[in-house]
Amino acid sequence: MRIVRSPAAMQRLALDWKRSGRRVGFVPTMGYLHDGHLSLVRHARGRVGDGGVVVVSIYVNPTQFAPTEDLSRYPRDWARDTRLCREEGVDVVFAPTDASMYAGRDAGRYSTHVVEEQLSRGMEGASRPTHFRGVTTVVAKLFNLVLPDLAVFGAKDWQQAAVIRRMATDLNFPVKVVVAPTRREPDGLAMSSRNAYLSPSERAQAVVLSRVLAQARAAVRSARRPLGAAVLRARLASLVSKQPDARVDYIEFFDPETLAPTARVGRGAHLALAVFVGKTRLIDNGRL
Ligand code: PAF
Repeated sequence: MRIVRSPAAMQRLALDWKRSGRRVGFVPTMGYLHDGHLSLVRHARGRVGDGGVVVVSIYVNPTQFAPTEDLSRYPRDWARDTRLCREEGVDVVFAPTDASMYAGRDAGRYSTHVVEEQLSRGMEGASRPTHFRGVTTVVAKLFNLVLPDLAVFGAKDWQQAAVIRRMATDLNFPVKVVVAPTRREPDGLAMSSRNAYLSPSERAQAVVLSRVLAQARAAVRSARRPLGAAVLRARLASLVSKQPDARVDYIEFFDPETLAPTARVGRGAHLALAVFVGKTRLIDNGRL
């Protein structure tokens, strides 16, 4: 497994692969890898086949964190991440530095961003106004450096995947955006690097996110007609409020393709939620 630090070296390698006709599968991550990430790697490997190459980027992208957010605290474990990638048969880990990705940013000499203006507005975009601009900017840069044929994202970040797919379409990136299912702990909690922040008591309470999903699904499936979003939201929020350290940020019902909010919630609608458990903000989503 090769470790590449420099963006220019990454792009040179990717151009060589292109010239020799090798398919490139790409899994962008911020590291602190868990089984959810590794399942994305397996997806990429399955799709590029034996002659293809799989690249994992490990980069905690500063531009997608607001000044009030957890950038400096974000969990990192380089030794473990590279061991897991090696064991999983990853070909290249691309781990650039901030200075190489955003040269001159501190001195005001970095000024180009990629902004998606529709799908990124609600939910995560409403709660974290600068977040998606950082995500689309860094993913566009990574696509230009890794030149992937396909890139795999986790369904846990449903809105992120939709925003990136739209960006790739709108800006004509020749990459197929693939979304792989959310991996869960045995009690239902969606795997996330941020779960590492939870104290044992918070960890126990965090299972409420997947319970909300299960309860919403049961309610929708047992109803004879679509349910009113406001009433269902209030019922689900009261489930969250039973946990002493949990606080709802949002609970939204929407069309899974267009992300347009729906006022009547029936089968096939999508639910996404963000909940603070203590200081940790967790998200989850699923089809109802
Ligand atoms: O989902 C993530 O880990 C990040 O948002 C991504 C896509 C790697 C961009 O930094």
